[in-house]
Amino acid sequence: MPDSLKHLLLVEDEAPLREAIAEQLVDRGYHVQQADSGEAALAHLAEFAFDIIVTDLRLPGIDGSAVIEAAVARYPHIIAIVVTGFGTVKDAVEAIKRGAWDFVSKPFQIDELLHVLDSAIEQRRLKSENAYLRSQLEERYRFEDIVGKSRPMERLFQLLETVAPTNSTILITGETGTGKEVVARAIHHNSSRRAHRFVALNCSAIPETLLEAELFGHVRGAFTGAVGNRQGRLEQAHKGTLFLDEVGTMSVALQMKLLRVLQEREFERVGDSHTIKVDVRVIAATNCDLAKLVAEGQFREDLFYRLNVIPVQLPPLRDRKEDIPLLVQHFLAKFEADRDAADAASGKPETERHLRLTVSQEAMRRLMAYLWPGNVRQLENAVERAVAFTAGRSHIDVADLPTEVQQAQETVVASAVTLPEDGMDLEAFVASIERELIQRSLERTGGNKGQAARLLNLKRTTLVEKIKRIDKRA
Ligand SMILES: Nc1ncnc2c1ncn2[C@@H]1O[C@H](COP(=O)(O)OP(=O)(O)OP(=O)(O)O)[C@@H](O)[C@H]1O
Ligand SMILES: [Mg+2]
Repeated sequence: MPDSLKHLLLVEDEAPLREAIAEQLVDRGYHVQQADSGEAALAHLAEFAFDIIVTDLRLPGIDGSAVIEAAVARYPHIIAIVVTGFGTVKDAVEAIKRGAWDFVSKPFQIDELLHVLDSAIEQRRLKSENAYLRSQLEERYRFEDIVGKSRPMERLFQLLETVAPTNSTILITGETGTGKEVVARAIHHNSSRRAHRFVALNCSAIPETLLEAELFGHVRGAFTGAVGNRQGRLEQAHKGTLFLDEVGTMSVALQMKLLRVLQEREFERVGDSHTIKVDVRVIAATNCDLAKLVAEGQFREDLFYRLNVIPVQLPPLRDRKEDIPLLVQHFLAKFEADRDAADAASGKPETERHLRLTVSQEAMRRLMAYLWPGNVRQLENAVERAVAFTAGRSHIDVADLPTEVQQAQETVVASAVTLPEDGMDLEAFVASIERELIQRSLERTGGNKGQAARLLNLKRTTLVEKIKRIDKRA
């Protein structure tokens, strides 16, 4: 019996029977409280959160059903067992409707009751484990919009859970389209700063000359065109999070000023001498190799260390192919919802609305085989395009995919370069490479085994042997 499920309330008006049962239950490790009436039971329930209640159905005053109803209303997790008199199954059914888990009929052997309790506890344990797992999932889902179940993503979620609530500066790195901004937002929304602003500044989208004023703000007349006083992004992000995107493109002069902000949390508006203090958390992102920029003298080393307090690396999509089907479903749902909303807005009758889309297995295979240089963003665009192409059909097929994705081949050889995290089946893998290369050699030579053998530097007989073995395996 799990330790956490041992507090039991026993309700029975016949004292000798009640005491006998209680004694047996105590012997089995339960902590038992006894009540001799419905009223007494309710009083106990008001005082203590029992794990289990075992109650006789027929009680003077408030009856067992009502006790159960009250117990379950107060403690939805309580395990309620009723004890019924001989031949009153109808009453037992009634009690179950009111929330009882199970029943035993009088007269019963103690073993019968113990058995009912054991199985109820076991089921409750499973149920709460499921509830726990579900809550974990929901919890995870709170990292809004971040889809992924692969090992690299699991590790990412773990890291995010740990670092999001802190105030530490974070440097997110990853190829284009891997989700750097989504992750930055998720960190903010999972931190105590969530009630304040998430302010994003893309350092590469703003001309160098304006970037400084954008970040720090300016006073009137600070430079040509500075007509009024203006708050910079840093001030806007006070108490919140400042997201510095593409931080690698910042000029060395500005890097110096940013360094001061990170060290002192203070700065001046452009053209002003008044020092402003801010409380911001900085999250920076880059798709370039900052360490390399440091080595090349393009990026200040001290700033790099100030930013890289917690490095968060986002895996490219090709390293987590197993997430592709999940992402496809996620984006399908998103674009279908958009489409449905458009349909509804245009007053299209229900019957003419679009069908729920599915993706053919062959199309999914191509989606998974493609290397996605543009990562999740590129995949998202491909799904959007496919949804638009399937007007009237319920199936996304290979032809609905962008040409380069259509042409993607499952090349085992390409993935041979790395040893997967979880290890691999070497023999099966080598066999699949062998099979693939033999197939290709035969394709190239139009099925001529002699020529194919020469291409592979094999004796013809050896090739024939291998083909036979492959055919047998297939
Ligand atoms: N794990 C994910 N789950 C769901 N959607 C994602 C995920 N990662 C990225 N996306 C989506 O992909 C698109 C690109 O993400 P985002 O803008 O965060 O990438 P990025 O790394 O900042 O790219 P860039 O370097 O080009 O700025 C967004 O529409 C985002 O919603
Ligand atoms: Mg981005």
